[in-house]
Amino acid sequence: MTDDILRAVEILRAGGLVAFPTETVYGLGADASNAAAIARLYAVKRRPVDHPVIVHFAADARAFEWVREVPEAARRLAARFWPGPLTLILKRATRVGDFVSGGQDTIGVRVPSHPVARAMLEVFGGGVAAPSANRFGKVSATTAAHVREELGQDVDLVLEGGPSEIGIESTIVDLSRGKPVMLRPGAISAAELEAVLAEPLGAADLRAPRAPGTLERHYAPRTRMRLVAAHALDAEIAKAPGKAVLAFSRPDERVGYWLRMPREAQAYARRLYAALREIDTAGSDEILVESPPEAPEWTAVLDRLRRATSPREGS
Ligand code: TXA
Ligand code: MG
Repeated sequence: MTDDILRAVEILRAGGLVAFPTETVYGLGADASNAAAIARLYAVKRRPVDHPVIVHFAADARAFEWVREVPEAARRLAARFWPGPLTLILKRATRVGDFVSGGQDTIGVRVPSHPVARAMLEVFGGGVAAPSANRFGKVSATTAAHVREELGQDVDLVLEGGPSEIGIESTIVDLSRGKPVMLRPGAISAAELEAVLAEPLGAADLRAPRAPGTLERHYAPRTRMRLVAAHALDAEIAKAPGKAVLAFSRPDERVGYWLRMPREAQAYARRLYAALREIDTAGSDEILVESPPEAPEWTAVLDRLRRATSPREGS
């Protein structure tokens, strides 16, 4: 493993791309201070250049060197949740290039907890820009094999780190504009954030910075997908048998492809992206997804499912 970490760091220093495991999803990493490396990262990701990327660090102090103003709220959230699945949006320091911030005055920073990510970041020393290791708009990768399948030769090295423990992307909190606002739900809930902040989160508004994770349709498989209420699932299956189904209940013999999902929200999140990749290969014309309950612990999963099932933008 140590050899792999050293190789990863050499590649990053030379401006290359390294996919690495984090506790949320796999990231596609590049040296955040190298404009050419970041340009290649955007090209491989096929991401529009005005969409900013998250920069990853080994420790809070390093992350805050890239930030112009560190509000008390950021220190508190970092102390409580880093290393871990939380991204903070803060005003960027002048040293931070336009090329990582998508031209915005802010920067997204995160200190991940996965031991492989931590080892790599520690040896590298600087900031590693890393969007999720998938093509723009597609389902994030939660295993090294999924990264290889999707990005293949476009990435110089894929570090192995087992299946991602959380399975969905980090919670994003914007602290750059006064009242803290959650831009993307994740494993860390609004209630947990509010308990540490000792104030309620503000509502996301139209001036909120652009975030692809917040585009209407995102995290989507190729096959059309539809959310179906639990009580309506049976009737939907009866209408058109032969669909693929992602559900909590037992397989139904009328259905061609059935994936049974955990009833517990964290276990569901861990399984979600691998399940979407798998069911996308079923060759059916539609995927029916049994909707999880509208309960706080399901917020992040419901958010991903809604985006994956929202109508296609354009074609
Ligand atoms: O869990 C995660 O956050 C994973 C792992 C690899 O760390 N990363 C991830 O990155 O999900 P990405 O690029 O796929 O999604 C990051 C989200 C995007 O929606 C991006 O626009 C938003 O964070 N973001 C990054 N910097 C921002 C900024 N300065 N202002 C607003 N949104 C920002
Ligand atoms: Mg992503």
